[in-house]
Amino acid sequence: MSKNFDVVVIGGGPGGYIAAIRAAQLGFSTACIDEWKNAKNGPAPGGTCTNVGCIPSKALLQSSEHYEHAGHAFGDHGIEVKGLSMNVAQMLARKETIVKQNNDGILYLFKKNKVTFFHGRGSFVKGDANGYEIKVAGATEETITGKHIIVATGSNPRALPNAAFDEKLILSNTGALAIDAVPKKLGVIGAGVIGLEMGSVWRRLGSEVTVLEALPAFLGAVDEQIAKEAHKLFAKQGLAISLGVKIGSITAGKKDVTVEYTDDKGNAQKAVFDKLIVSIGRVPNTIGLNAEGIGLKLDERGFITVDGDCKTSLPNVWAVGDVVRGPMLAHKAEEEGVAVAERIAGQHGHVNFNTIPWVIYTSPEIAWVGKTEQQLKAEGVAYKAGTFPFMANGRARALGDTSGMVKFLADAKTDEILGVHIIGPMASELISEAVVAMEFRASAEDIARICHAHPSLSEATKEAALAVDKRSLNF
Ligand code: FAD
Ligand code: NAI
Repeated sequence: MSKNFDVVVIGGGPGGYIAAIRAAQLGFSTACIDEWKNAKNGPAPGGTCTNVGCIPSKALLQSSEHYEHAGHAFGDHGIEVKGLSMNVAQMLARKETIVKQNNDGILYLFKKNKVTFFHGRGSFVKGDANGYEIKVAGATEETITGKHIIVATGSNPRALPNAAFDEKLILSNTGALAIDAVPKKLGVIGAGVIGLEMGSVWRRLGSEVTVLEALPAFLGAVDEQIAKEAHKLFAKQGLAISLGVKIGSITAGKKDVTVEYTDDKGNAQKAVFDKLIVSIGRVPNTIGLNAEGIGLKLDERGFITVDGDCKTSLPNVWAVGDVVRGPMLAHKAEEEGVAVAERIAGQHGHVNFNTIPWVIYTSPEIAWVGKTEQQLKAEGVAYKAGTFPFMANGRARALGDTSGMVKFLADAKTDEILGVHIIGPMASELISEAVVAMEFRASAEDIARICHAHPSLSEATKEAALAVDKRSLNF
């Protein structure tokens, strides 16, 4: 097997494995190194996203949603469920099967595209513009070379300084996805994306969930109107969310964990939980890469420094995904991976940071692209807004899921769409229309004039676009 490659990718998450496949498609001899191990110490490419992120979290969200529907919503349809129970072990086994299908799928794609896979940790040995030596430390140790290196080593969960993850009582995303019995009382520190998704899973299965958030505003990055609606709906579902708290001591006992904190009124509080999820953001991962030894520049927060093209401080070394600036999202990592492979080939790969969609997979889902209303106000941009509630959408009524709305923000003069915000059923799917529209720099009127199937949730998108011009038809 040749050990000299045109392109060596370090990290096999969404940024890395996609970069490797695209590089191979473009005719480069390509290697991808990933160190993730499955329970049998075998390779498990796919990174955080596949192993302890996007995929397993969505599997648990689906299982818990079915359980909740069977318990509460089916009665409406005349479906009677007796003796409902939750087999957590089976739910976790299903999740593991889905993860393995994805791991195996990536190994198959590597074979199909002739990407050489190395299982182990990759680290820089030496190199310059002519090429780099990379040591791969796995079951055996070997050295390979690459003319171009793409670093895609991802991120790790951030721990609180006084509460290391033990994954038994104090859980990162890894432990939160593997809780083997429904905790009676579940604490969550951080009301961000992971806190809300994981909090929702265990609340649906019967946990009493308390979410403690440092900031005074709920979901500060989300459009305020949508965040307000989400806060109301989550509180109604039973998520106890406390904002503006200051976390003090965290003490793990034998079977529970005690959190002392100050609430938003300055009162000292104490809560005891069976499990505690700490989801306060993630930090870039350059552990074991020998970045310092090779002179690869990191910024003050530990991210690999890159320019707009994902070029690092070293010639022919590129970096993509969570380990560089920008949103920590799988699809952002993938887009950067593709763009870098194309740039290596002399093409004009591009990533439009203005049209990267966000989705929070709670129920209802929250999805958005572009600017929020508060951002437009702060930037002094004159805009028009239009909203349409799912309550007035026939398909949403038939589904029995009428919470939320679609909101359009368009330039006051040109009518160009500046942002679209959705809270409601299948928001994760509906947002794609808005992304396409913004990528083509469409106006709200363009969407308003497009024929949308009836009855469909997407009619709410059309109606919100019509509402920008105050002429929605069904509300
Ligand atoms: P990673 O996926 O972290 O992959 C990096 C890989 O590199 C890992 O396999 C790691 O083992 C390997 N590696 C690191 N260093 C080395 C080395 N020196 N040698 C060899 N291998 C190495 N994003 C979404 O867009 N949608 C979601 O629904 C979503 N859900 C999430 C849910 C959770 C619970 C979490 C934690 C994250 C979620 N994310 C989601 C974020 C998403 O997982 C990340 O943005 C994405 O995985 C980043 O991809 P990456 O390729 O940059 O890094
Ligand atoms: P996050 O950044 O989404 O949320 C962290 C929250 O913790 C913030 O609200 C922050 O104010 C709060 N916080 C920080 N320090 C705190 C403290 N000391 N005490 C109390 N609260 C504190 O980070 P999260 O949820 O850990 O997720 C990490 C990243 O993973 C996300 O930002 C996102 O990029 C990605 N992700 C994406 C998902 C998706 O796309 N659906 C799902 C899950 C994760």
